[in-house]
Amino acid sequence: MSQPKFSITTAIDYPNGNPHLGHAYEKIVTDSYARFYRLMGHDVFFLTGTDENGQNLVKSAEAAGLDTKTFVDQNVAHFKVLCERLNISYDEFIRTTEQRHHEAAHEIWKLLEAKGDIYFGTYEGLYCTNCEAYYTELQAPDGKCPAHYKPLDKITEEGFFLKTSQYQSWIIEYIKSNPNFVTPELSKKEILSRLESEPMRDLSITRPSKGWGIPVPGHPEYVIYTWFDALINYYTASKPRGFWPNSTHVVGRDILWFHAVIWPIMLHAAGIPLPGQVYVHGMVLAADGKKMSKSLGNGVDPIDVVNQVPVDSFRYYILRAIPSNSNGAFVMEDLLKRHQSELGNDYGNLLMRVVKLARKRIGDEISSDGMKLEMNFDSFISDMKDSMEKREHHRAMDRLWVEVNRVNGYINDQAPWGLKDVDPEGRRRFIEVMYNGLYGIDVVSQVLGAFLPETGSKALGSIGKKLGVIDLSPKNYTLSDPPVLFPRMEPAKPA
Ligand code: ME8
Ligand code: MG
Repeated sequence: MSQPKFSITTAIDYPNGNPHLGHAYEKIVTDSYARFYRLMGHDVFFLTGTDENGQNLVKSAEAAGLDTKTFVDQNVAHFKVLCERLNISYDEFIRTTEQRHHEAAHEIWKLLEAKGDIYFGTYEGLYCTNCEAYYTELQAPDGKCPAHYKPLDKITEEGFFLKTSQYQSWIIEYIKSNPNFVTPELSKKEILSRLESEPMRDLSITRPSKGWGIPVPGHPEYVIYTWFDALINYYTASKPRGFWPNSTHVVGRDILWFHAVIWPIMLHAAGIPLPGQVYVHGMVLAADGKKMSKSLGNGVDPIDVVNQVPVDSFRYYILRAIPSNSNGAFVMEDLLKRHQSELGNDYGNLLMRVVKLARKRIGDEISSDGMKLEMNFDSFISDMKDSMEKREHHRAMDRLWVEVNRVNGYINDQAPWGLKDVDPEGRRRFIEVMYNGLYGIDVVSQVLGAFLPETGSKALGSIGKKLGVIDLSPKNYTLSDPPVLFPRMEPAKPA
C-alpha cells in the first residue's frame, strides 16, 4: 500500500434535537469518500462528531425541561444511531465536551495568547444565537439573520478578541495561491468576494460563562466562543492519530466562512499547519424547493426514510440525484423510481440473472483457468478516481452506472442462454461468457461497495468475495443465490 494517508471530516453537528436530513446527507457523502479512498488503498481517517459547547444548547435544554448534560447526551445518542443506520464508517466520533478536546482548545488558545494575537475589548454587533455568529450590515442590511430570517440582536459585549483582521490579506493570498483549498470554484469565488468587499473585524472569541462551555484559561468567568472551540475538534482528534495536517473538511455552504477563513487564520497564527481542503457541498432542499424547516413542516426525517426503503436506496439517491456542488431537492417519488429502475432493474437483475444462470448450468465453483477477459476496467477505475478527487461524486455515480450497463450490455449481446450444452463449442463459450459476466459483477460491485456498502458486500458474498482494497485480478468464484437487494415498493403516498 503505497498510497498517501487520507483524512476526511464532517462538520460536527449541534445536538439540539434529532438529526435532520442535512446531517444524514453530509455523513453519507463523507462516508463515500472515506470508503472510496480505502478501496484505492489509502490509509484513511474519517472523523465525525458533535458540537456541544454552545450557549444555544443551554437554551434548548431549558426549553426541554432538562439539564444541559442530560439533554445533550440524549441527542448525541440519536446522532450515533443515525450513523449506525446509515452505515457510516467513521474511525472516530468526537464530542467537544470531552476532556481531550478541552485540552486541545487550551493549547491553541495559549499559543495565540503567547503570540499576542488575543486581546481584551468591547464588541458591538448584530448577533444570531441560532448561528452563534455576528453578521455585518453588508450581510444583513435589513437587520435579519440571512439564514433564519429572524431579527438579529444588537449586542454589546466585553471579552476577548482574536486579531483576525490583521490576517485578511494573508488569507486572500492563501486561498488564491492554493487553488484546491476551497472547492468548488463557486464557493471559492463567494469567499474571495466577501473577503475583498469589506474589512474584516476581529473575532469575539469568548462569552460570559453561564456554567456551560470551555472556560478561558486564567479567566473562568468567561467561556471560549463555541465556533472557536468547535473548529479545533479536527485537530484534537486527528493529531494524536497522526492525521494532521492535510484533512479534507466536508461542510455545507452556511459554514464556509468559518472553515475557509477563521479556521485557517487560527492555525496560521498559532503556527500549526493547515488542513488540505474545504469541500463545500450543496444544501438538501425540501421537495417544494424550499429550505427544510420545522415551522414550514416540510422536513424529512432520515430515520423515517430508512424505515421505508433499504439504506442503500437512500444513499444512492443522495449521492447521485443531488449534484455534489449545488443545492438539490429531496423528492421521495424520485428516490422510489431510482430504487426500482436503476438499483432493482439495472444492478439487482444483472446480479440475479448471471449468478442464477451460472449456478444452474455450471455449478457453484467457477475457475479462472483458461479464461480470457473480454472487458477492461482500467479507464473505469481512473475515471472514478478523477471524479472523486474533484469532489464530484454524482459524476462518479453516473460513471459507475455506465459500467453497470456495460456489463448488462455484454450479457445481452453474448446471449449466453442461446449457447447450448449439447454443442461442445457452445458449452465452452457459455462458461467463458458467464465467467466474464461474473468478473464484471466482481469489479463493479467492489467499486459500488464504496457508495452502497451493504449492497456491495452482499453482491460480492454471492460470488464468494468480500469488500476490501480494489483487486482487478481474475479470480475463482464460489456462487450462492444473491438475496433480493431492492424489493419492489409501493409508490410513495402523496404528501
Ligand atoms: O453548523 N443540507 O452544525 P449544524 C445539507 N456545529 N447540509 C446541511 C443542511 C441541509 N439542508 N443543513 C445543515 C454546525 N447542513 C456547527 C458546525 S464544525 C466545526 C461546526 C450541514 O448541526 C451544515 O452545513 O447546524 C453543516 O455542515 C452540518 O450540516 C452541521 O450543521
Ligand atoms: Mg446549522
